[in-house]
Amino acid sequence: MMYALVTGSDHGLGLALVKELLERNFFVAACRLNTKETLVDALKELYGNKLEIVDLDISDYHSVKVMKDRVDTLVPHIDLLINNAAILGDIEKVLGEELDYDEILHVINVNAVGTLRVTNALAPLVLKSGLKTIVNISSEAGSIQDCAREGWFGYCMSKAANNMQSALVHNNLRKKGGRVIAMHPGHVATFMRGHLDTTAQLSPTESAKGILNVVLDTVLPTEERPLYLNYLGERLPW
Ligand SMILES: NC(=O)c1ccc[n+]([C@@H]2O[C@H](COP(=O)([O-])OP(=O)(O)OC[C@H]3O[C@@H](n4cnc5c(N)ncnc54)[C@H](OP(=O)(O)O)[C@@H]3O)[C@@H](O)[C@H]2O)c1
Repeated sequence: MMYALVTGSDHGLGLALVKELLERNFFVAACRLNTKETLVDALKELYGNKLEIVDLDISDYHSVKVMKDRVDTLVPHIDLLINNAAILGDIEKVLGEELDYDEILHVINVNAVGTLRVTNALAPLVLKSGLKTIVNISSEAGSIQDCAREGWFGYCMSKAANNMQSALVHNNLRKKGGRVIAMHPGHVATFMRGHLDTTAQLSPTESAKGILNVVLDTVLPTEERPLYLNYLGERLPW
């Protein structure tokens, strides 16, 4: 049996990843922030004991600790940890405007530090598995080399920090046979902007299928540095 854990599975890409993993016969711990979001409950009805829903706020140390204790009772190991949960924050304001620093710090706390909280708690379970793989859902917005935006401060800075974290964690895991992949999921039609992003060219299902195809069906090079790939397996510049 293969075991996976996905954060931020309330809806959007996280929910689609959970569904695709279940279709691939994984047992999935689906971590949900908002208990009022019932889409993942519908999957539970379909997949029964192959799926457990776990409450998790990655911005909160105590919540991560409670999640870890629960997950310890659910799975013997985690083959695939997908750190998917994230928030966008303001994407309009540029230099010279009134920036909301508390919000920027919150975005960094969720997207970069929150991912580290989860990984640090679950790395022992990942290292007990066969696959020993962590996928950090990053973004092209985390690429410093490719940066053309003037705003999106919280999001871009948090995803760049998330990428650095991927490199640091990869350096820890690789000596023990593990790996980290920083993954850009493409431009996906989700509600991350507060409304359905109809300008996106990908559905969550298409992105999730692509990501799992890259991570599970492709022979990826083993490298000293983590791979920074998109959902098609193409490399992104750091
Ligand atoms: N959509 C795109 O085009 C795109 C492009 C590049 C990268 N990405 C990345 O893809 C991932 C998924 O995003 P998405 O597009 O599917 O957006 P989304 O639908 O907003 O999904 C984000 C998920 O994270 C959850 N979440 C937010 N704060 C959390 C916290 N503190 N603790 C735990 N969970 C939390 C959200 O829960 P609630 O919504 O219930 O609060 C939601 O389930 C993110 O890492 C995002 O940065 C998306």
